[in-house]
Amino acid sequence: MKPLKELLNFKKKNPIGLDIGSGYIKAVQLNNAKDGYELSLMSILPLDHDLIVEGNITDKKRLAAAVKEVLKKAGARGGEAVIGVSGHSSVIIKKIAVPAMSAEELGTSIRYEAEQYIPFDINDVNIDFEIIGPKADEEGQMDVLLVAAKKNVISDYAEVIELAGLDALILDVDAFALSNMYELCYAGTDKKNVALVNVGASKTNINVLHEGRPVFTRDSAMGSNYHTETLERELEITWQNAEKLKMGESVAGVSPESVQLAMTSASDEIYTEIYRSFEYFKSSVADETEVSEVILSGGAALIKGFPEMMAEKLGMQVNVADPFNNIKISDKLDPGYVRKMAPIAAVAVGLALRRGGDKL
Ligand SMILES: Nc1ncnc2c1ncn2[C@@H]1O[C@H](COP(=O)(O)OP(=O)(O)OP(=O)(O)O)[C@@H](O)[C@H]1O
Ligand SMILES: [Mg+2]
Repeated sequence: MKPLKELLNFKKKNPIGLDIGSGYIKAVQLNNAKDGYELSLMSILPLDHDLIVEGNITDKKRLAAAVKEVLKKAGARGGEAVIGVSGHSSVIIKKIAVPAMSAEELGTSIRYEAEQYIPFDINDVNIDFEIIGPKADEEGQMDVLLVAAKKNVISDYAEVIELAGLDALILDVDAFALSNMYELCYAGTDKKNVALVNVGASKTNINVLHEGRPVFTRDSAMGSNYHTETLERELEITWQNAEKLKMGESVAGVSPESVQLAMTSASDEIYTEIYRSFEYFKSSVADETEVSEVILSGGAALIKGFPEMMAEKLGMQVNVADPFNNIKISDKLDPGYVRKMAPIAAVAVGLALRRGGDKL
């Protein structure tokens, strides 16, 4: 039985999950259906790759116009939006240990406790936290998940949302959006360590879950743009042609063998980066326990052979995320398109699942 509040809100539209990536904007909206959710809106739009560079928005007006366009494409207008931020230069997520205290007490002392863990000026960040529980090996201490997001990044995104005619409802973190998605789609409370790995255009978000809870998150600045850049450089072609080749299209004068070679070498670098994070997780966080399964999302999951080669290189099971696993797809949408693009929409689905409450 759903909470009464939710039943009474049956007619009210749920917020739009808006994932503004540096490569693609993704918008997703889920309706409350009789026995779960129905996907009522999914719209995806590629962005010019000079609009978000190293996590910074270079032109807010143009980005806002692109957000408007992604909504228009789907026949949607205003409304509330949940947006996400990520990237190691924008957000820090860390498990820290602090003296045991109530959430209220921690609320007043978190800035002081957090200062030593944050590589930015403490006055430049908004902080949120979640008490995980008593620290296993140290009495009087408790584990806390600390989230700190740069104020200027938050305000830039908020401005874009406003310019696009939306109300920013919640600001979330991509890694947590992924775990929301996982919870709904996989009902995961696995004892083993499951890594949610989202390889986007300019970064890779890793979120390792144990019993369904995030125990390790890391964003690295390596994404599928690396494929595009490698093709561009090795084959001496334009960025646009490199993107076409990535999608499996052909370009005059370019042999499939040379494409394959460049793609494989770029993929290898990405796998190595992910492997390094897993090794770090194993040695410093998880008492030598391994990640045993990857749920892969993001644009790179659509590259032919990428998930299979990843499984081989990492020596573990790699499953491509299906964020619509437990979600009915509205008759208004093209099911073929939704299925094809599903892995790219993973973060947006997680964002669309968020309801009021915590806010960075
Ligand atoms: N069909 C496809 N085949 C191969 N690659 C694809 C396909 N569709 C999209 N991509 C690639 O996926 C990337 C975009 O993925 P995604 O939307 O997950 O990234 P993003 O969220 O915009 O980036 P980031 O989070 O890193 O800022 C682009 O590099 C694009 O070239
Ligand atoms: Mg992304």
